[in-house]
Amino acid sequence: MCGIIAITTSSKANVSKMITTSLKKLEYRGYDSVGIATINNGKVEMLKDVGTIDKVNKRLSLENLQGTIGIGHTRWATHGAISRENAHPHSDCTGNIIVVHNGIIENYLELRNTLQENGHNFSSETDSEVIAHLMEEELKQFNQNLSMINAFKRVLTKIEGTYAITLIHSGEPDTIFLARKDSPLVIGVREDTKFAASDIPAFLEYTKKVIVLKNGEIATLTPQAVYIEKNGFRVQPKPVIISWTAESAQKSGYPHFMLKEIHEQPIALKNTLNTNPAEIMKASNKILEAERIIFLACGTSYHAGLTGYYQFQRILGKKPLYKVIASEYETYSHLIDEDTLIIAISQSGETLDVMKGLTPARKLGASIVSVVNVIDSSIPRYSHISLYTKAGPEIGVAATKTHTAQVALLARLALQVEHDIGLMSATEFTHIIEDLNTLTPQITRLIINQNEFKAKQLASKITNQNHAYFLARGYNMPIALEGALKLKEISYIHAEAFPAGESKHGPIAIVEPDFPVIMIAPNDWTAQKMLSNTEEMRARGAYIISVTEQDHRIIKRSDYSFILPEVTIPLLRPITHILPLQMLAYYTAVQRGFDPDKPKNLAKTVTVE
Ligand code: M6R
Repeated sequence: MCGIIAITTSSKANVSKMITTSLKKLEYRGYDSVGIATINNGKVEMLKDVGTIDKVNKRLSLENLQGTIGIGHTRWATHGAISRENAHPHSDCTGNIIVVHNGIIENYLELRNTLQENGHNFSSETDSEVIAHLMEEELKQFNQNLSMINAFKRVLTKIEGTYAITLIHSGEPDTIFLARKDSPLVIGVREDTKFAASDIPAFLEYTKKVIVLKNGEIATLTPQAVYIEKNGFRVQPKPVIISWTAESAQKSGYPHFMLKEIHEQPIALKNTLNTNPAEIMKASNKILEAERIIFLACGTSYHAGLTGYYQFQRILGKKPLYKVIASEYETYSHLIDEDTLIIAISQSGETLDVMKGLTPARKLGASIVSVVNVIDSSIPRYSHISLYTKAGPEIGVAATKTHTAQVALLARLALQVEHDIGLMSATEFTHIIEDLNTLTPQITRLIINQNEFKAKQLASKITNQNHAYFLARGYNMPIALEGALKLKEISYIHAEAFPAGESKHGPIAIVEPDFPVIMIAPNDWTAQKMLSNTEEMRARGAYIISVTEQDHRIIKRSDYSFILPEVTIPLLRPITHILPLQMLAYYTAVQRGFDPDKPKNLAKTVTVE
């Protein structure tokens, strides 16, 4: 949450223009307020305000600030209201030390009180501002006889919590100071310019050479050099060249990233399924060795984990499997030991709730296999085996292509286990993998093309509704849950998903004429029962929308149907059946006048508990 960018360059260019462009790429991480500070001829210049980057830039001309070093921030509020004062950057009392921060300083009240007793004046209610004052205090105490880096290190020993920090000081006007603990920070390297950002797309336009700062590392950037240290020892930076293109982080003619990302699913799935078999085999071994398996994730990734849970349940019979929402990890902590395997699923690889589960679990000897999209992020670095979804950067806050890629990768893993356990012959396995690899992108493309107009049309029907139900049964529940989450998070229509059989135990009470009920009704064992549940809803006047595979009984009983091709590989259903629901959510949000890329109160990467 919150987007950070810092740039120092020896070229003549003013960095404010680059910082503004980079902040636009980070806006998905927060958009409550925005600010930039530069150092120009030894003096700090700073502009910040409430609103999106475009609006604030128009009002204040952020990109006209002068200077070849600067930091910028787009905020997702945690401590303190959404106001100009609370917008980053923050400064010390002298205005010479400037800081931006992502994360939470847990002991900030204590620190703030002590600093205030020592005469410091605070301008904001944020936890972040204490960092600038602590730095000022350190330098003051040592009467400036302390190097900037040592003062910065002393500050870090005083703060508790999570952070990605970038700091500049007018007294050292070409250096950026960085530190990371549980909040992401990556460094971009170009010969005459160095970047630090919360995420790679921020500087992808300028460089593909990336160094991922690890937890506990402290760094300084000057235009010519990157210096990193950890626990007092120098760390040799290991830059990697990222294959993502700058275009992949742009809208490329689509009105929103979300729509672009929905359309990118065929290629994201093709790339993801083209995975390294050796890694899948290693993960399969871990699954077979484990005595119990926990699927751990949040939000949309949790729904992908649920599909894994149901798939592995079918294959692994009585082996105990658990599906755990990561923020609820403590409830399951008694299950963790060296015989436990955790399958952690995360798009960003940085979700703090997931990390907060993995950290104690690993200490207790559990094995960790992760399914992640962002390479080298915290979760894969904490895992024994990392499987990557190759969906490319996802900018829309609502996960789409990364979700189907997670489901595909888990399906691929499930097939491997089914083979390794002896439930599938080698020939059968080879054929099904071939089918999976070729059919998945094809069928996905077909469904998107055939249903986009229908989704748009249907959106105009439900756009004025306040509620919607998504019903399914058994292993189709993750589709209903994900469909409801998509609609709720971007269109703000209250949407709930529950097993269809449960509706008569309470939820049906609020169904009235025209109440939208979305039925996930594929051609499987659930079809007959879904039919009865449809009748119950119809009898109360509900507006029935079905997602079906040409089942005429359900189509006849529906007011509107997404009719999908018959799915020959059942493992694919959580992919095929979610596609119309992603598009329905998208078009409903747009028709209600909301920006689906930036849902209110949400951020793409959630690094707070
Ligand atoms: O980066 P992660 O996959 O760990 O993120 C988990 C959730 O925060 C995320 O899926 C969230 O629910 C999205 N807004 C869903 O669209």
